[in-house]
Amino acid sequence: MVFVTQSIDPSALSRLRAAGLRVTVRHGEAPIGRGALLRGASRVLIPMPTDRIDGEVLDAGPVALVASHAVGTDHIDLDACRARGVAVTNTPGVLTDATADLAMALLLACTRGVLQGDALVRAGRFRGWHPLMLRGLELRGARLGIVGLGRIGRATAERARAFGMEVVHSSRSGGLPLDELLATSDVVSLHCPLTEATHHLLDAPALATMKPGAWLVNTARGPVVDEAALAEALQGHLAGAGLDVYEHEPRVHEGLVALPNVVLLPHLGSATHRARRLMAATVVDNVLAWHGGRPLPTPIL
Ligand code: DGY
Repeated sequence: MVFVTQSIDPSALSRLRAAGLRVTVRHGEAPIGRGALLRGASRVLIPMPTDRIDGEVLDAGPVALVASHAVGTDHIDLDACRARGVAVTNTPGVLTDATADLAMALLLACTRGVLQGDALVRAGRFRGWHPLMLRGLELRGARLGIVGLGRIGRATAERARAFGMEVVHSSRSGGLPLDELLATSDVVSLHCPLTEATHHLLDAPALATMKPGAWLVNTARGPVVDEAALAEALQGHLAGAGLDVYEHEPRVHEGLVALPNVVLLPHLGSATHRARRLMAATVVDNVLAWHGGRPLPTPIL
């Protein structure tokens, strides 16, 4: 009756089973394929952020609850859920710190040439300290432009201020106009959800307005950036980028893979032991509340 599309924290699964629910977990290194998703769909579906949940999947169950193991809901067709009366929950809050930490890790890695330095040492090309070697951005006094000031954007701002950065933001509810933020920030960090309005928010014209020598960090969603345009800009006026998410995940634009000034991570934003444990716990809290007819702790619909 409960179908989980990927292995999750075992203690969360134990809670489901202890409540008498029949749970099927599909194990695999890669995300579930479409056919297996359609075959597995059942009354309660626990998908990962990589699983596209649309009307076809909902009808295949038929599904009554989508308890997503993610905070982002762009992988779920909410209109299709609404039309069928399907309840939807996500995992807000518990991955905020983990994702903000990773945004800072990418920011530091790309602005200080961490990967280039590592590659240089491993290749035996470290000839000794040199005054002009791999000079990067000093964070104190540099301007960080945060696009999207939700929980994760605010947590990233807090960390950046601790490094002495001046933080500005652009969001639906205020802050700087996006073009002003892009034109004046030394580093731009994306924290907005993926919606129709934010798809390719950073397209070629927007990237062109970024300050020469600036860096881009993306821990939000890949399609917020036009990857082909970014690859071009990184060979031109941009200094570098730190990316955790991709437009066509898990595929990464070949132009980006070829560039030395880009740090590429495999969507690790929430990948801490604590965050993943709490994400699974939040999913289970929602399933058990739904099963018991109680209010859902973190409802989307
Ligand atoms: C989410 O929960 O939406 C994240 O992308 C997973 O790390």
